[in-house]
Amino acid sequence: MPVSDQPMSSSRQRCGADKQQSEDVAITALRAEHTNAVVDLHMQAFPDFFLTFLGRSFLRQMYLCHRDDPATIALVASRKTDDEILGAVIGPLQATSFYKRILVRRWWRFALAALGAVLRRPSVVPRLLRAVRYRGDAPGGETDRALLASIAVSPAAQGMGVGKLLTTAFLAKVREAGLPGAYLTTDAENNDAVNAFYRRQGWKVESRFTTPEKRKMLRYIYDF
Ligand SMILES: CC(C)(COP(=O)(O)OP(=O)(O)OC[C@H]1O[C@@H](n2cnc3c(N)ncnc32)[C@H](O)[C@@H]1OP(=O)(O)O)[C@@H](O)C(=O)NCCC(=O)NCCS
Repeated sequence: MPVSDQPMSSSRQRCGADKQQSEDVAITALRAEHTNAVVDLHMQAFPDFFLTFLGRSFLRQMYLCHRDDPATIALVASRKTDDEILGAVIGPLQATSFYKRILVRRWWRFALAALGAVLRRPSVVPRLLRAVRYRGDAPGGETDRALLASIAVSPAAQGMGVGKLLTTAFLAKVREAGLPGAYLTTDAENNDAVNAFYRRQGWKVESRFTTPEKRKMLRYIYDF
């Protein structure tokens, strides 16, 4: 099942504080023991989003399938002093083949994980079916660039430089894999902080598109 998140409403929160010292934060590979904390912080960072509505089991599957696939990047940021998980970033090196692969290998796990949400709100079924067809919304339909599929920083740690550490580490892995760059998609509207965050780090708007749910999106690329 693909990672294709959408807001359930437009409310967002940002907390800012002093910069977290980058030397206090470790960026490491996502491991099994991180999963619960990463799911918790995803739910806090994306309170009104579709994937959060689908629930903990679904998000768990989403992070596990990135962790287990050999052609993905899955990283966590943690505070060195107490190992608290502050953020996570995930994404496949080649989105189209990754989403096809997880659909074939794991569809039943995702279907089971989504069952509760479907029973709670049957109207989510069309969105779920669209998610099944999701292949990463790559520029021009196909690309050599990796997809930054999801990044989340715990609300208490936002605005302290953790997101920047995570995107920098993600891009370093993409470069290490020999790819020419990365892309991502994000909301064009009611999303100024996130758009400022990407632009500040050198991501360029490549194109705009509208989803079948009429959600206006920006597609960013970062080329080395
Ligand atoms: C978006 C998100 C990942 C950013 O992580 P963060 O840790 O809060 O961001 P950082 O503190 O690392 O900011 C990095 C840079 O972006 C800039 N930036 C961040 N928010 C900004 C804003 N609202 N306006 C202008 N610049 C901003 C910072 O100033 C910083 O630039 P600098 O290093 O030159 O000072 C985080 O806020 C988050 O998880 N949000 C909720 C989930 C979400 O929306 N994810 C993205 C989905 S596409």
